[in-house]
Amino acid sequence: MVSVDSGPMSISIPNCRRVVIAIATASLLVISLPAVAGFDEDLERIDHALRKNPSRVLQQAVESCLGRRAFALDLYNRGHTVRAERFLRLCFDLLKIPEVAPTPKVVAPTPEDLNAKARKQIEQALSLTPDVAHGLQIYRDCAACHMPEGWSLPYGGMPQLAGQHRSVIIKQLADIRIGNRGNAMMAAYASAEAIGGAQSIADVAGYIESLEINVRLGKGSGKDLEYGESLYRENCAQCHGENGEGNNETYTPRIHAQNYNYLVRQFEWIRDGERHNANPEMVAQIKAFEDREVHAVLDYVSRLEPPIEMQAPPDWKNPDFVTE
Ligand code: HEC
Ligand code: HEC
Repeated sequence: MVSVDSGPMSISIPNCRRVVIAIATASLLVISLPAVAGFDEDLERIDHALRKNPSRVLQQAVESCLGRRAFALDLYNRGHTVRAERFLRLCFDLLKIPEVAPTPKVVAPTPEDLNAKARKQIEQALSLTPDVAHGLQIYRDCAACHMPEGWSLPYGGMPQLAGQHRSVIIKQLADIRIGNRGNAMMAAYASAEAIGGAQSIADVAGYIESLEINVRLGKGSGKDLEYGESLYRENCAQCHGENGEGNNETYTPRIHAQNYNYLVRQFEWIRDGERHNANPEMVAQIKAFEDREVHAVLDYVSRLEPPIEMQAPPDWKNPDFVTE
């Protein structure tokens, strides 16, 4: 006997073993004969209502449905699919199941699907020639958070974007748009509706890449820099470059002079698998990093500087935003 918790009352399904056997047979049949797709779905909704009794129908109605359900399954097993379905539908009235079309099951895209989709957008945007003037027009909206200079705010909740490699900006934007970067707070602002398609991504990336880099953003404590340097040489330089300059060809971000707090947050998300779009080899390389290592290496990184010609002079203001 199976006890069914049906809200205020508790009922048992009689002949329960027969029902279970019949369900097993029915689902086998559905697999081999894809004749009546609706029967299985109806049965699922009825069984749900039998278990939960959300409409609080009387026990009499529940029992009456159980009888019809068993009869319908029997018909179904003997191949009378149309009659079986008609009988089963009587339960909808008895249990007061609302007549709505069952919602189609949404299959969550796999990381591979997302990566493939993102890669297409990235390749497309990379192949286009950026229209930097249009890029500025788009960037005016981004500046609300990333500031006119692309340095974002000093607390480090957001990255310095200025001077970042074009391929990195394109890849990150595509990943954020497609839902392939975890915790992306700016998703709504990067959508195709907000800024447009691949050409717009190429344009805004072209503009951001041209901005000058601020080397005076947040740093760490400065207490463990030697250790930080040795960790960097052993674990990071092979990808991010001797000086943290990254690599446009391999989508590896420029991380020198990046805001310390931002570095820490992203690094931990990458290590703990929360950023989703991270480079798997980097994840493997840093998985054993504990707090001391994280803070030492990122403090060191935040103090690395790009060549002087890429650096913004102190008090530099983006002339594209200066209004007279
Ligand atoms: C509401 C604030 C906000 C707006 C508007 C915004 N961003 Fe962001 N952006 C963020 C935050 C916060 C992050 C850090 C990742 C996260 O937490 O979502 C980020 C991350 C990024 C990154 C990833 C950089 C990296 O180093 O990985 C890029 C690229 C970027 N933004 C570009 C843009 C562009 C281009 C626009 C305008 C179309 C824009 N953002 C608008 C807040 C914003
Ligand atoms: C195997 C190559 C590789 C190694 C080793 C590696 N990284 Fe990365 N790293 C990458 C790539 C590629 C990305 C961009 C991933 C993506 O597309 O989201 C990245 C992203 C990052 C980010 C996020 C930057 C941003 O703008 O959002 C930080 C921070 C970072 N790496 C720091 C480090 C540090 C520090 C080390 C060493 C302890 C390290 N990485 C080792 C390849 C590597």
